[in-house]
Amino acid sequence: MTTATAISHPNIAFIKYWGNRDNTLRLPVNGSISMNLDGLFTRTTVSFSSAKTDSLAINSTPVTGKGLERVSYILDIVREKAGIQDRADVTSENNFPAGAGIASSAAAFAALALAGSKAAGLNLSEPELSVLARRGSGSASRSIPAGFVEWKMGEAESDSYAFSIAPVDHWNLVDCVAIVSASHKTTGSTEGHAIAGTSPLQDVRVADAPRRLEICRNAILKKDFEAFANIIEHDSDMMHSVMMTSKPPLMYWQSATVEIFHQVREWRASGLPVGYTVDAGANVHVICLGEYAKEIEKRLREIPGVSNVLVAGVGGAAKVV
Ligand code: PMV
Repeated sequence: MTTATAISHPNIAFIKYWGNRDNTLRLPVNGSISMNLDGLFTRTTVSFSSAKTDSLAINSTPVTGKGLERVSYILDIVREKAGIQDRADVTSENNFPAGAGIASSAAAFAALALAGSKAAGLNLSEPELSVLARRGSGSASRSIPAGFVEWKMGEAESDSYAFSIAPVDHWNLVDCVAIVSASHKTTGSTEGHAIAGTSPLQDVRVADAPRRLEICRNAILKKDFEAFANIIEHDSDMMHSVMMTSKPPLMYWQSATVEIFHQVREWRASGLPVGYTVDAGANVHVICLGEYAKEIEKRLREIPGVSNVLVAGVGGAAKVV
């Protein structure tokens, strides 16, 4: 096969990945847990040809420079594994805003790893695909398996991959993503990971990660929403505390971000099963039980500064189409 198309979903991290022990290999300093987001997707086609260079178009716009280099870096790994030299044309489409804390890079590199390896004639296993996606963007490792996913740190390059801890239909959670800013973030996560260690809080966050992973994993497996909401908010707040105290400091929140935190905590205190988490952006992922999603979406839309709300259930694995 010389052409292949793959679809993958972004994911929202419940226990966050922030900081690498090896920035080139993207080996993380702690494990992480996430859920794939159904309805939001990246569709990527890779075609190997006799062209002289790789090319990339995202949402029909040609991309060169750093964006293309990152794609070629993954294609180089694929070419080496497959023993081919051919260059590739890559076209990719997202149905959600890129670069605004909705893990567009996760879906993008998961789809690229799958489409690229298939187009090169490789048949990689799920862990191998997860490792390959990880080299493009750490969180992309988690968009390869289905449903609720854990990425283990691993000891080395080949065993730092993600696997499913519960299938799509295990728990009807919905992510209501309150869009506070759809603009491209100023500091990307690649630069952010590189300075995570400059915060004096990072060591504490990392040392405590096994405890948070266990609480979150158990809450998901037992469908204990209260424990789940408390740990995801705690973990998100810890990561943002590290971001804010890094050199230079990273402040992703807008005033509407903080307003949503207050509202979500009030809603939960009044009995609604809802909790928040934020990635490297201003948008707030408000996670709730499926039957409350309509009500939560309505309430979020009423908050000043919220320009849109994307609603996503639990998503499946990356797949070839
Ligand atoms: O995969 P990256 O390099 O885009 O980093 C993702 C970092 C966070 O979204 C903030 C946390 C996470 O675990 O997804």
